[in-house]
Amino acid sequence: MPEQLDVVVIGGGPGGYNAAIRAGQLGLKSACIDKRGTFGGTCLNIGCIPSKALLYTSELYEEARDKLPKLGIKTTTELDLAGMLAHKTKVVGELTKGVEFLLKKNKSEAIVGEARIAAAGKVEVKLNDGSTLVLETKHIVIATGSDVAPLPGVTIDEERIVSSTGALLLKSVPKRLLVVGAGYIGLEQGSVWRRLGSDVTVVEFLDRITPGLDGEIAKQFQRILTRQGMKFQLSTKVVGAEKKGEALTVTLEPAAGGAQTTIEADIVLVAIGRIPFTGGLGLEKAGVALDRRGRVVTDANFRTNVEGIWAIGDCREGAMLAHKAEDEAVACIENIAGKSGHVNYDAIPAVVYTHPEVASVGKTEEELKAAGVEYKIGKFPFTANARAKTIASTEGFAKVLADAKTDRVLGVHIMGAEAGNLIQEAAFAIEIGAASEDIARTSHAHPTLTEAVRQAAMGVEGWTMQM
Ligand code: FAD
Ligand code: NAI
Repeated sequence: MPEQLDVVVIGGGPGGYNAAIRAGQLGLKSACIDKRGTFGGTCLNIGCIPSKALLYTSELYEEARDKLPKLGIKTTTELDLAGMLAHKTKVVGELTKGVEFLLKKNKSEAIVGEARIAAAGKVEVKLNDGSTLVLETKHIVIATGSDVAPLPGVTIDEERIVSSTGALLLKSVPKRLLVVGAGYIGLEQGSVWRRLGSDVTVVEFLDRITPGLDGEIAKQFQRILTRQGMKFQLSTKVVGAEKKGEALTVTLEPAAGGAQTTIEADIVLVAIGRIPFTGGLGLEKAGVALDRRGRVVTDANFRTNVEGIWAIGDCREGAMLAHKAEDEAVACIENIAGKSGHVNYDAIPAVVYTHPEVASVGKTEEELKAAGVEYKIGKFPFTANARAKTIASTEGFAKVLADAKTDRVLGVHIMGAEAGNLIQEAAFAIEIGAASEDIARTSHAHPTLTEAVRQAAMGVEGWTMQM
């Protein structure tokens, strides 16, 4: 370990490990500390990666059972949940080891332990053997991520009342799964267990699902999920959950207040959001300012109010997404290195990995209306896309929003098969300030799902051709 480091990164998630990698690339001496024992943070250990592994295998299971027979393939399908969980564990293991390799390759010291900021330029790490390591550094990057938001009256035990972490570890398929929160986690993990046989009810406080996503998409998305068998109770809050023998009795109340009702479940999944994780870091003593939601306050360059202390990822404001943390990591380290890193938040995509997938980038119609921006819309349904027909996955549509005067792409919202991949073209368009006509006049291979995005872009100027 060098005597004086350039950067100490606290947290080894997508924010932290990418910061350490970029630091290495720019010739900065760094260390990356995580208390978890494996690197990769929430995303690789208990978030994006294990959830996507289960989403993939559960989708294959459902397709093998329900879709393949309709396509001329006879199957007998039997669920091997232990095998599915083993696949997930294997992927997580390989990827977290991969992060360790990347840290080493970029000459960043990977330290397992709990870090605390003793002062600007000084980090103390409590190592697993009980000893304390003191690191002197020019810069400290806080990348400590987020944790599950608690629900008053409902105590998570990770066995029967679970967070996303426990929901990734269930040893058997619950007969009745009650999900609290119709956001990313509720709908993704609700989909996993519904596909595997659970009767899933989602209770949502608001009068819509997936707040923040385009309203038109959210409405159709709910219809599709309902058709798949998911039940929704909107404008409702969960106020308590009690174990009664084998079952859990969950108490519900209208969001606006009123008479309580109860519903029985075998497992309750609490997925009402995540909160920044900054506990035990010594921030108060170091004088680092937090906002009223407990997030580390930084300027647009990721500097906190204390010289030499920076913050990125879930522990600061903005979408709690792995690639947002990664983008901030790159920009923050470039700023530390004297370059001019920045993040274009309008070009950060978001994806719900259900089937169909829902993906978006840029502004929603609701946001444009609220900001008084005049815009044009082009839309195209997947029922009219040749590739969607061939893969028998025609649900959903693509929608392009462009500035009414300049034609600049302002937002793209897609619900359909592979929407998470399709959105990338739109993110690039927004990043380079492209017009919808640029997408419309770019050749798109036939037959691909990408043609739906092109046809939607053509629709902005009213010349959609294939509908
Ligand atoms: P984290 O990944 O949370 O990493 C922070 C790390 O800091 C942790 O490992 C923690 O142990 C460590 N740490 C905290 N305090 C200390 C300390 N004092 N000392 C040492 N170490 C410390 N995002 C997506 O973009 N796509 C997805 O598909 C997706 N799926 C998700 C699914 C689930 C179930 C969940 C829960 C989240 C998902 N996310 C997804 C969100 C994504 O995981 C986070 O946005 C991302 O991990 C944030 O990265 P981060 O580096 O800021 O923090
Ligand atoms: P979320 O913010 O996506 O959704 C939470 C939902 O719970 C909201 O619809 C909210 O209105 C509702 N809610 C809040 N309080 C409630 C209450 N008391 N009763 C009923 N409903 C209530 O949060 P979620 O799903 O927990 O995920 C946390 C974050 O993790 C996401 O916001 C996202 O940033 C990240 N994530 C990203 C994924 C992806 O990119 N595919 C997948 C999973 C998580």
